[in-house]
Amino acid sequence: MTEALKVAMPKGRIYKKASQLFREAGIVIPDDVDDSRRLVIPIPEANMEFIMAKPVDVPTYVEYGVADIGIVGKDVLLEENRDVYELLDLGIARCRMSVIALPDWQPGIHLRVATKYPNVATRYFREQGEQVEVIKLNGSIELAPLIGLADRIVDMVETGQTLKENGLVERESIFGITSRLIANRVSYRMKNTAIQELCDRLETVMPGTAKV
Ligand code: PRP
Repeated sequence: MTEALKVAMPKGRIYKKASQLFREAGIVIPDDVDDSRRLVIPIPEANMEFIMAKPVDVPTYVEYGVADIGIVGKDVLLEENRDVYELLDLGIARCRMSVIALPDWQPGIHLRVATKYPNVATRYFREQGEQVEVIKLNGSIELAPLIGLADRIVDMVETGQTLKENGLVERESIFGITSRLIANRVSYRMKNTAIQELCDRLETVMPGTAKV
């Protein structure tokens, strides 16, 4: 048997959707994997090894080749800007990156933007010709305009529930987000048969099949 394919899987919300997609594609993942706290999980049934990573770190593991492939949101890919191949738009975990503010927001002189995505936000406002101060936060970004840290935020919107419950509004949508399958450049050549077979299987079950 050939060497197992090392797959960097994002822990949490996306894992559930990704593992469901893998199973629909006929890849056998034992049920006990889903609730496991193990970080390196062999999946001999599929000749794979799952590396359970914090989503934001998936492109790093793949770029360094400790994972051959990985699943990651387009938001993280654009923020981290790692040297990896983007193979497939899996069409899962669909949401969007938006600029958000309180309903009565008016452009002022000193503009502050809070976000988990400082590179994405800096690039966006530069393209808009707007000078802003970007403040990096690690979560609960919606707090920033509510308590006066920033006048706008750049954040992910999925159902819109968080905005609604906090009385915030979306001012612009910057880009759409879905999960992507990415590959290490060397692994893509060395393990091409296994990676290609996985891509072919996933393509038959992906919502809104789209090759990148
Ligand atoms: C994300 C995002 C928004 C929320 C959007 O936060 O940062 O706060 O989900 O989802 P919604 O439109 O369906 O309400 P997450 O739950 O990842 O937690 P965080 O606050 O720690 O970033």
